[in-house]
Amino acid sequence: MSEPDRAHPDRSAPHHSETSQPPDWWVFLTKFLQRGRVIASFAPSSRFMARVAVRGIDFDTTTCIVELGAGTGPITKELLRRAGKHTRLIIIELDAALCRYLRRRFPNAEIVEADAADLDRVLDERGIAKVDHIISGLPLPSIAEEIRDRILDISARRLAPGGTFRQLTIMPWVYYRMYRRYFTDVRFKFVLRNLPPGGIYQCSGWQEP
Ligand SMILES: C[S@@+](CC[C@H](N)C(=O)[O-])C[C@H]1O[C@@H](n2cnc3c(N)ncnc32)[C@H](O)[C@@H]1O
Repeated sequence: MSEPDRAHPDRSAPHHSETSQPPDWWVFLTKFLQRGRVIASFAPSSRFMARVAVRGIDFDTTTCIVELGAGTGPITKELLRRAGKHTRLIIIELDAALCRYLRRRFPNAEIVEADAADLDRVLDERGIAKVDHIISGLPLPSIAEEIRDRILDISARRLAPGGTFRQLTIMPWVYYRMYRRYFTDVRFKFVLRNLPPGGIYQCSGWQEP
C-alpha cells in the first residue's frame, strides 16, 4: 500500500470554520432521524472503515476516484488525506444540507450535489471518460432495483480497466449475492471497528444482471 503523497498539501486539513460546525456524528444522526431511508445508517463510518475502503488503491498512479453518497465525509477525509494533486476526487452527495456541510468541512474538495444515478452527466460535464475507483456509501439495497441497476451499470461502464467498485455496508455478507449478480469478482472485507460493525464489498468485472 502506498503512503500519503507528502509532496502535496494535505487537502483534508480542517478549515478554520470546521470547529464552528456541529460534530459529524450529530449532523449524521439528525439527518438519519429526518430521512432514515435515504441515509440508511445512524452513524458515520469510522476511520477504520475509511481506511479499509481505500486499501489497495495505488495513489501514485490513480488519476480519478469518485465517491457516491459522501454523507458527512469520513471517506472523503481519508481520500483527501491520501490522494496527491494528480488524483481528481469527485465527491457526490444528494442531500443539499450535507453538501453545504461537506463544503465547509473540506473547502478545497470538489463536492457535487447530484443523484448518483446522474453519474454519466456529472462525469461528461467534467470531460472525464473513465475513473479508476468508485467508492459508494449509497444505501443501494433500499434503492429501487431499476435505479440501482442504473447506478451499477453506469459505474461499471465508467471504470477503467483494473478499476474497482467499493460498496460500504453495515450488514456484513448479507448482500454478497446481490453484488455477485453485477460483478464477476466480489470480495468482502470485514470491519469490526465501526458502529455497527460492517465492511466493504470490493467488486470488479462487470456482468449483465
Ligand atoms: C449511509 S450514508 C453514508 C455516508 C458516508 N459515506 C459514511 O460512510 O459515513 C448514505 C449517504 O448517501 C446519500 N445518498 C442516498 N441516495 C443517494 C443518491 N441517489 N445519490 C447520491 N447520494 C445519495 C445520503 O444522503 C447519505 O448521505
